[in-house]
Amino acid sequence: MNEHIKPKSISERADHLEEEMMHELERVMTKSTLHYLSDGEVKMDTSAGLWAKHPGAKFNMGPDPRLPPMPEKPTLIDYFKCRFAQHAHLLQSATHALKNGCNEKVVLACLLHDIAVVSFIRCDHGYWGAQMIEPYVDEEVSWAVRTHQALRFFPDEAAGYPYPEMYVKLFGDDYKPEPYIVAEYERARNHKWYMTSRLICINDIYSFDPNMKVNLDDFVDIVGRNFRQPGEGLGFDDSPSSHMWRTMMWPNRFL
Ligand SMILES: [Fe+2]
Ligand SMILES: [Fe+2]
Repeated sequence: MNEHIKPKSISERADHLEEEMMHELERVMTKSTLHYLSDGEVKMDTSAGLWAKHPGAKFNMGPDPRLPPMPEKPTLIDYFKCRFAQHAHLLQSATHALKNGCNEKVVLACLLHDIAVVSFIRCDHGYWGAQMIEPYVDEEVSWAVRTHQALRFFPDEAAGYPYPEMYVKLFGDDYKPEPYIVAEYERARNHKWYMTSRLICINDIYSFDPNMKVNLDDFVDIVGRNFRQPGEGLGFDDSPSSHMWRTMMWPNRFL
């Protein structure tokens, strides 16, 4: 009998399957230029360069098997659980806001104020975070998240917000906010939603409190009432920021 048409035994088929799976796992994960820039390198992954290292390899165009799997129609809460590197800061700030009797818009703003930091990009995190949530929340909430970027550098003692000691430790006592931040602050000062953004700063936690009990479940209802979760799943809708959520879901797709 011709070797090539001999039916495969069960164990041969298992071997073949295992090999296929190995190749699947061997899909090359590419890094975006931004990741290299953060490491002080101006460089990029190119197909030619990667094939020199991994001849004939295929590039990842889907989920990264090393990351927690996301459901088919992910919700904001799924991103909290599977993609946010840390929730404690956000939950503590939102818990403070709840205890201080803030309304739900403020509580949601506190819960989401640093999502860019915990999941995406630190630099200009207020702007990134606001853009991510803008299509899904009341305009006042995204405005407040965007503006806390600037307000946190300017004390408002009357409102109960001194300049954070933590910033002196983090940035030195000679740090001066850049002109674009000063300009943002000037614009915000007389805005009708100034206090919403200021309340983010007031309820922000500048040092982690290990004794504060927080739980994501306590905020599921507030999120349900105030965050317009798209039916297709966050990232699969066609909002102006759905690509940002998809990028978080599939951070190393080749394209
Ligand atoms: Fe912040
Ligand atoms: Fe914060």
